[in-house]
Amino acid sequence: MSKKVRVGVLGSGKGSNMVALAKACEAGTLNAEIALVVSDVEEAGILERAESFGIANQYLVPGPFKTKLDEVCEQAYIEAFQKAEVDWIVLAGFMRILKGQFLKAYSNRVINIHPSLLPSFPGLEAWKQALDYGVKFTGCTVHFVDQGIDTGSIILQETVPVMDDDTPQTLHARIQEAEHRLCPAALELAVRGRLSVQGRHCHRLPDS
Ligand code: GAR
Repeated sequence: MSKKVRVGVLGSGKGSNMVALAKACEAGTLNAEIALVVSDVEEAGILERAESFGIANQYLVPGPFKTKLDEVCEQAYIEAFQKAEVDWIVLAGFMRILKGQFLKAYSNRVINIHPSLLPSFPGLEAWKQALDYGVKFTGCTVHFVDQGIDTGSIILQETVPVMDDDTPQTLHARIQEAEHRLCPAALELAVRGRLSVQGRHCHRLPDS
């Protein structure tokens, strides 16, 4: 088997997508290893869950802004991943926008999981946006990260039905079940070099 790709995970929440990635690595369905998990939230469950999988993890101060990292902090995030010799970055519930420096350091190697069928419902609490709008189907998207908010080219999407009696919690839970399949599948294509990106269009290359 070829050398395992080293993956870094950034997250602000409970870390269920990071767990799905860690389990796929353990099962061998994803030929990668999670080398480092970083959170901008000191008490985030993702750090505890990384610890329980024996994965290196750390909290790094994000700086004074609510929605982005400040420049000095962003540099510290880059250095932590470079020190851990990380090749690819997954944003698994990371609630801040990454700006130029980070995206330059990991050019075309940052992917994000978003809980809607983009371009519908970018931004925060996408499952609640879908419920409020009254759509019958929503889903999740794994996409490359660019300078915009949830605008990068799309790698994979999965649809999820919305039920009449859904609450934000039940709908988000159903979307998360799909995320836990989609995120490892998209990362697997990415780390095996099975994706071709031309502008907005990301195509899956045939297996050789
Ligand atoms: C996931 O549903 C992910 O799609 C969402 O945060 C949740 C994190 O859950 N991300 C965003 O909304 C990003 N805009 P997790 O911590 O259990 O993986």
